[in-house]
Amino acid sequence: MTLEGKRAVVTGGGQGIGRAIALKLASLGATVAVVDLNAEGARSVADEIERIGGKASGHALDVADAEQVKDVFGKIAEDLGGIDVLVNNAGITRDGLMMRMPQADWDLVLSVNLTGAFNCTRAVARGMMSQRFGRIVNISSVVGLIGNAGQANYAASKAGLIALTKSVARELGSRGVTANAIAPGYIETPMTESLPEKAREEFASKVALRRLGSPDDVANVVAFLASDGGDYVTGQTINVDGGMVMQ
Ligand SMILES: NC(=O)c1ccc[n+]([C@@H]2O[C@H](COP(=O)([O-])OP(=O)(O)OC[C@H]3O[C@@H](n4cnc5c(N)ncnc54)[C@H](O)[C@@H]3O)[C@@H](O)[C@H]2O)c1
Repeated sequence: MTLEGKRAVVTGGGQGIGRAIALKLASLGATVAVVDLNAEGARSVADEIERIGGKASGHALDVADAEQVKDVFGKIAEDLGGIDVLVNNAGITRDGLMMRMPQADWDLVLSVNLTGAFNCTRAVARGMMSQRFGRIVNISSVVGLIGNAGQANYAASKAGLIALTKSVARELGSRGVTANAIAPGYIETPMTESLPEKAREEFASKVALRRLGSPDDVANVVAFLASDGGDYVTGQTINVDGGMVMQ
């Protein structure tokens, strides 16, 4: 598997799963632009990649802000001469029961997780179509497939991301651009570290492989979809959940 010569953008790449994806793509030879709301995180991951001999840059970006997305992606495409791989990984939670959920929490989660991916996809689509090559990977969640009490906003955003993926796959397929979603199960990252040990054990007991996932488990599948191995795969949702949800 190689990504030599490929130019990739990873959103929310400043920590957790996004960081692992950025490191993995870079280790396979891609030049990686790490973008994150947290500018410091983005730059430190880019530095980490450069320290191990890879090529990377770090950029501050709020994916929910369409104008900012246009500017930052325009600059990255200009610097790198184009974009081949987009990983829409930036995501947030604002959990609460639906009946008590503040409207602002609904709006914010949808605007980052779903509209953010829409903004970034639009920012790369024209370039990918004209170069007749592109790989778009959207990080959804198993919760987008099965729902979750206390996560109506998050689950709806992740289900929406799967439908966005399928629509983009249909719209851009004839121009050599694939779009796929990954639905991770429970992955150990800063987003999930607050869960008590007992709850983690209970979670693991419900997973066929009897362990929680690591960011690398997700990064490996992103790398496959971005590489030549994924050439004839589009519009799919691949669960990376240790066998938690089986369809
Ligand atoms: N951790 C899990 O168990 C799990 C499970 C399924 C899906 N996911 C999804 O994987 C992705 C990464 O999750 P994680 O666990 O690494 O989360 P995380 O909170 O550790 O990292 C998310 C990153 O996104 C960045 N971000 C947040 N809002 C942003 C915005 N508006 N613009 C740009 N960047 C922004 C954050 O600064 C952070 O660096 C998310 O989309 C999440 O929903 C995670």
